[in-house]
Amino acid sequence: MKVVGISGSPRVKGNTEYLVGFVLSKLSTKGAETELITLSDKSIAPCKACYHCVKEKDCSTKDDFQDIFAKMCGADALVIGSPVHHAGITAKLKGFLDRTGFVSRWIGSEMKKAGESYRWKGTALSRKILAPITVARRTGHTFALAQLLLWGSVNDLIIVSADYWPMAVAGAAAAVDAESDEEGLTIMERLVENIYFLLEKLPK
Ligand SMILES: Cc1cc2nc3c(=O)[nH]c(=O)nc-3n(C[C@H](O)[C@H](O)[C@H](O)COP(=O)(O)O)c2cc1C
Repeated sequence: MKVVGISGSPRVKGNTEYLVGFVLSKLSTKGAETELITLSDKSIAPCKACYHCVKEKDCSTKDDFQDIFAKMCGADALVIGSPVHHAGITAKLKGFLDRTGFVSRWIGSEMKKAGESYRWKGTALSRKILAPITVARRTGHTFALAQLLLWGSVNDLIIVSADYWPMAVAGAAAAVDAESDEEGLTIMERLVENIYFLLEKLPK
């Protein structure tokens, strides 16, 4: 069982990193092999919309994307967390997910010709488990969560839920205190249980 966690925060050791790390550490105690990837220290350009990936099955921009994408492809489950920035996910995570989504789509599928319909053949991330997490000081979680849910649901992933939306609240402006959001952590614990429940069902 391999689980890759991605923190989309530009902040080192911020709330998102804490929450994604929290979920990974609980999965690790259950026996999963886990890796936390932070985008804060990675070079990730936005998608150029060059459509190179349609034919070449890779992204034309060479940066840290390729290494992270390879790790995602080798994982059974992905835990993707973002702080809420202006009621959405961070710009860096959005750029990364745009590139991930397009490359993974075109790895298995071809651009349709004029007059044809698409017959999609899954993606490079098909049937991997996706656990999204968002954290904000106050509000905008649901829009950010919707971005992660829509990215997962267009890319053929299996989205895992919890017994509340998988989000946490950080305290005063710029505080790094997600660990004191008790309700948030119980939601993360349920998310862990449900990720593990699904991991055990995957074909060996
Ligand atoms: C550019 C920017 C925009 C933000 N927008 C929001 C927002 O829309 N709603 C909110 O509640 N908090 C907002 N925040 C606060 C962060 O969501 C909050 O501090 C969060 O805990 C940061 O997570 P991190 O420590 O993982 O970076 C914003 C912070 C920044 C830097």
